[in-house]
Parts: sequence; C-alpha cells; structure tokens
Amino acid sequence: MAQKGKFQAIKGTRDLLPPETELWNWVESTAREVFGTFGFGEIRPPIFEPTELFARAVGGETDIVSKEMYSFAENPDLGLLEEMRGYAINMFDLYKENADPGFFILAVSNLLAAVNLRERAGEVGIDSNSRSGCDQLEHLLEKLPPYDWSRPSPTIGENESALLTQIFFRVQLLTFSDRVSLRPEATASVCRAYIEHNMNQWPAPVKLYYLGPMFRRERPQKGRYRQFYQIGAEVLGGTDAPGIDAEVIEMVMTFFAKLDLQGVQLEINSIGHNAPECRRGYVEKLRAALVEVKDNLGEDSRKRIETNPLRVLDSKLEHEQAIIATLPKIGDSLCGECKGHYAEVKRQLEMRGVAYRENWRLVRGLDYYMRTTFEITAQGLGSQNAVCGGGRYDGLVELLGGPPTKGIGFAIGEDRLILSLLEARKEAASGEERPASGRVGCDVYIAWLGAKAQATAIAAARKLREAGLRVELPAVEQKFGKALGQADKLGAKYALILGEDEVASGQWTVKRLADGLQEKMAAGEVAEYVKQKK
Ligand code: HAM
Repeated sequence: MAQKGKFQAIKGTRDLLPPETELWNWVESTAREVFGTFGFGEIRPPIFEPTELFARAVGGETDIVSKEMYSFAENPDLGLLEEMRGYAINMFDLYKENADPGFFILAVSNLLAAVNLRERAGEVGIDSNSRSGCDQLEHLLEKLPPYDWSRPSPTIGENESALLTQIFFRVQLLTFSDRVSLRPEATASVCRAYIEHNMNQWPAPVKLYYLGPMFRRERPQKGRYRQFYQIGAEVLGGTDAPGIDAEVIEMVMTFFAKLDLQGVQLEINSIGHNAPECRRGYVEKLRAALVEVKDNLGEDSRKRIETNPLRVLDSKLEHEQAIIATLPKIGDSLCGECKGHYAEVKRQLEMRGVAYRENWRLVRGLDYYMRTTFEITAQGLGSQNAVCGGGRYDGLVELLGGPPTKGIGFAIGEDRLILSLLEARKEAASGEERPASGRVGCDVYIAWLGAKAQATAIAAARKLREAGLRVELPAVEQKFGKALGQADKLGAKYALILGEDEVASGQWTVKRLADGLQEKMAAGEVAEYVKQKK
C-alpha cells in the first residue's frame, strides 16, 4: 500500500479517470434509458449487508462466499469478543488432540472476564441469550476442580471431561457480533429489499435495476478486479412465463446493441429444478460418472465431485475438456416441465430475433439458479470474457424468509463492458474522432486580457454554460498567444477572445481553432453561433 510515503490504490481496485469516466456515464445513462423503456425502475440497496444474507442466497460452499467476501464485525468491541470465542473453540480442538486443557479453560475464563469488563465499562450491550450463556458458563467453570498449573498434563477424569464438553457447547452457542460483508453481488440485496418493503403487494412483476460497485477478493487480472461495477436487473413476482426470461435477455441484447458492443455472443442453458426427477437426479448421475474418471481430473475438480459436481462443468483446465465432453448432459435429465419451459424460452427468443447458442455446460457459480441460465461474452476481453451473467432463481425470496416468488435477472460487468468498448474503439478509430458521447472536451476557451475583460469573461462563461456549452475560463490573465496554445492543448473547438477592444465595442471575437477562421459578432450571438457550428 504505502511505499516510501506514497499511497497507491489497493490491489484489485483502481481510479476511473476522465475522459474514460465520460464513457462510463454514457454507458450508465444508456442503461437507464433502455431499461426504462422496458418498465424497470432503479433500486439502490446498501453496499454492505449481513454476511448471512449472502451465505444463504449465494451459497456457503461457493467460492464467492467461502473465499472472496470482505467481511467484518459491525461492532469492533463485539468483534473482539467474537475472536476470543473463536480462540477458545480452537483451544478445545487442541485439547481434543491431546493439548493441555488448561489452555481451553484459561481462554474461556478470559472471554468471560472480557465480557464482564466491557459490559461494566458500558462499551457493549450483550443480548440476553448471550448474557445468560455467560452466566451458565461461569457456573460450569466453578464446578471444575481448581486447576493445577504445576502439572504439565493433568489427568482428566470422566466428570471433568464431560464438564469440559458442556462448557465447549455453551461457548459455541454464544454470539456476540453480527458480521457484515461488502456486497459481492446484488441479487441477494434486491430479494431482501423485496421482502422488507412488501413488494409482493406491488403490481407484479416488480422490475428493478441497479448499478454500482461490488466486492470480491479475487486474483486481479485484466477484466477482474476486487472492486468492480455491475449493472443489473431483476424481475420478481408474477409468473415464471418463459416470455419473461426471453424479454429480460432481449433487454440486455438491446442495451448492448445500442452501445454497439462488438462480438456479442449469447449462451443459454437450463439447469432444471432441485428435485430428484430433475437436477438432483442429474447431479447423482454426474457424480457417478465423475467418480469413474476421477484419476484423470485435476485437484479442484476431484474435490468438487463431493461438494458440487456441477461446478466441474465450469472447468477451464485444458486436459479436462475432453473428459467433460463425455459426461452425461443435463438436457437429457430435465423433468418434463423444465424441458418444456426451456423449449419455450428458446422459441420466445427466436420470436424476438435474439440469436443464441446452447451450452449444456453453463451452470454458473452461484447456488440460487434454477431452469434458465445465460451468459454473454464480448470481444477484446481475453480470458475474462463474460460480460454478463444471469438466470432464473424462483424460490430465492422464500429461502430468505419471504413468500414463494418467481425471479429472474442478470448482472453486467461494467468494467469488462467498458474494456470491450475501448478495445473496439482503439481498433476502429485510428485517428478518427470518437463519438461525442465518449469524450470530455471543451467547446469554448475564453482568452481574456485586462481586469475589465475578466468581468466580461466571467459573465460570458456563465451565459455559455447556461446554453449547455463546455467552457474553460482561465483563472489568471494570459497573453493571447499563450491562451490560444492552452486552448489547443485542451482540444477546444473555439476560442472567445476578449480584450479591451472587444469589451469597449461589445463585438466579440470568436476563433475556430481547427482552421483559424475568425469572426466578430455581438455578445448575445456567440452561444448560438458555436452551437450551430459545433
Ligand atoms: P456473476 O456471474 O457472478 O453473477 O457476475 C456477473 C458479471 O459481473 C460477470 O459476468 C462479470 O462480467 C462481472 N464480474 C464478476 N466478478 C467480477 C470481477 N471480479 N471483476 C470484474 N467483473 C466481474 C452475479 O453477480 C449475479 N448476481 C447475476 C444475476 C442477477 N443473476 C440473477 N440476477
């Protein structure tokens, strides 16, 4: 981070700077415009939420939740107690591996002392469950015979052993802090908000979009950051009609077309629903097939045979590709209803003229999906080429404590989208002007000389800006030659020259910088003149 007194952005984070931020703004306003035409309204959920929300929605076993979240205790004092509790639990594990039980007893005693001290100091309020848990622990500790520190490995009798186990269970039940996490994605937050604001009472379906930063502790590389931006949309409630799936996909494709994103490829799949006659049956078939070829798989895939066989299909390892091609395909194991739903999604996409490719290996890395899954890739992105991912997640709202609710949505990786647009422009432009939407620039540079001219220049700048022009007004006086040089550097289109003559006559000089054409005109005419010729 800080080296020799210099600060740098943390690994995996970066500053977005002008003129590139102009492109970001244009992309975002285009998203708002396009999504608006499909009836979506904006939601802005908080950037941090209870860790448990993501664990439950995205899945505790997923990479995102198990390795990549930025999590912390909401209250640092309670966080410290939580750490002491964790330490006591570790000491119990060590005791089970034959370490001295004294470490465990000491850790629990210290924890209780810390709780009491902090409570007395009024630093933390401990909930009644944990308070009574602590009281019971004190009582249990008192029942232990006085511990003899002079004996390195005291013999523990059956009574003591049972007591220690009881103490351990009590310690496990204590909770001091609510952990929170920076959001790694926003679908969970949108579903939480849907429940919290009783959106099931709103006219169905509820259509929401969001944009903003997400956080995942991934290994940074081109197109992969630890703070990255998503533009996403979710449709909640109402039916699971395949027309909704198709329209959501049509909306992203319309957005990409409007941005003129190059090399767009849509891949779709259906992963069925979580029932023995559908996906669960398939997972068992897949697991059995994977066990057969286990010795030829890499370590990650071998682990996943047990934890999440579907994720093996996601593998990018070269030598696994041929093996994966021989595995059973999910399409052959879908139940009748899911098969029908998938067929209708495809038909609906065709009706909308949306070109797609089927990819039976598209299973996605978050646990909440069912039926339709999709991903979109674009050109110029190297290995991190997924610019959008999404799918259906009926049941997620219910899993989070809400009513049974249908859901489908997607999120676009905005960083990757911008990278792809920039790459395409680099290729196409070769000196050509970029579209105005992607440029920060200057329409009029005001070159002024003399105190009176400054007053006129300030008033002129205000008028021109009110007319929507981008105006640069130097704060200090400059000789005209220098001012015009500066205007050139900034890429200004016009220079408005205000010297004593101009101020006295009210006839201002406007110079077109591209060819040096210079014209005099009345003050009130400048804005219109520049706008017409812009
Ligand atoms: P996801 O596939 O995890 O899905 O992320 C969606 C997109 O976010 C990816 O396709 C990628 O473009 C971008 N992305 C993900 N991680 C990074 C990163 N570390 N750096 C840069 N870009 C990244 C979701 O997040 C789901 N919530 C999508 C969804 C919404 N499904 C239903 N509704």
